[in-house]
Amino acid sequence: MPDRLGVLTSGGDAPGMNAAIRAVVRTAASAGWDVIGFRRGFCGLIDDDALPLTPRSVANILQRGGSILDTAREARFRDEQVRRAACEVLDRRRCRALIAIGGEGTQTGASRLQAVWDGHVLGVASTIDNDLGGTDHSIGFDTACNTALEAIDRVRDTANALDRLFFIEVMGRNRGFIALAVAIGGGAEAVVLPEVELDPGALLEVIHGNYRRGKLSCIVVVAEGAHPGGARGLLDELDARGAGLRDLPGAGPRVTILGHIQRGGNPTARDRLLASRLACAATRAAIAGQGDRLFGVRGETICATPIADAVAEKKAIDPSLLELVNTLAG
Ligand code: F6P
Repeated sequence: MPDRLGVLTSGGDAPGMNAAIRAVVRTAASAGWDVIGFRRGFCGLIDDDALPLTPRSVANILQRGGSILDTAREARFRDEQVRRAACEVLDRRRCRALIAIGGEGTQTGASRLQAVWDGHVLGVASTIDNDLGGTDHSIGFDTACNTALEAIDRVRDTANALDRLFFIEVMGRNRGFIALAVAIGGGAEAVVLPEVELDPGALLEVIHGNYRRGKLSCIVVVAEGAHPGGARGLLDELDARGAGLRDLPGAGPRVTILGHIQRGGNPTARDRLLASRLACAATRAAIAGQGDRLFGVRGETICATPIADAVAEKKAIDPSLLELVNTLAG
């Protein structure tokens, strides 16, 4: 009977997860291994809800967003007894390894599973937030940034037409990686990040200075985690300070929350490539009998980090990118 590994996607879905599933299945098949996919992340592992995956059944998914295995955030997996029961499911299913595709929550679960299971657990870094350690880039980040940028470009058109101020809220959980990237790519006049303490006076000076210099619109990108009320809460706070934003051209500022559109859609070339490379490397490691590794990239090079170390790593934002936003705001 062929050797077998399991695969699951968990947490927030990210464009490129399907490309990763496909790469796991086809890499495994090329070595003569079987693959089963657990549905809805760790839920499927707990409930023994799985399906066989073959090179043919993963055809035509490379370019699709979401996850053919579905995904979930599963609180039950925090319980060690539940994790031990999941090990029995894996053993009964004859899985010698499990590949967990997801972000920080997923990899925390993966690391805890590895602590109680004799098989090998491998992680593949996948989250639009790009906040997971052990990698410079996670699967889905590039697509989410491109989706947000397309929306920001559209908002810029209408902002210019009305000389209007916009606060655009982007995802990122409690980190500002998406916000910083799209602030640069979208030519934002300012960015508000969870990592940098808000200075309302300085932000208002940027906004008012922008109009004084004759610019026709102003876009402030706000990371969702940068203010308790997101972009709306930020605007309310500035209003409460009597910031004079309602008197600016364009009949007052507007707030646009990009929300979950950033999670969907076809993965970019970069995410397809990253997903294919990372998932192939993780699968080869599983076949070689290695476990407890999170696969990511440093620069363009694939790297493997003990999963708990990757989860513990606090990724820093690059201060030179923040400086770039200010310099290029002109
Ligand atoms: O982690 C991905 C993410 O999209 C975050 O950016 C966001 O804060 C969160 O998930 C939203 O979660 P949900 O889909 O449960 O609303």
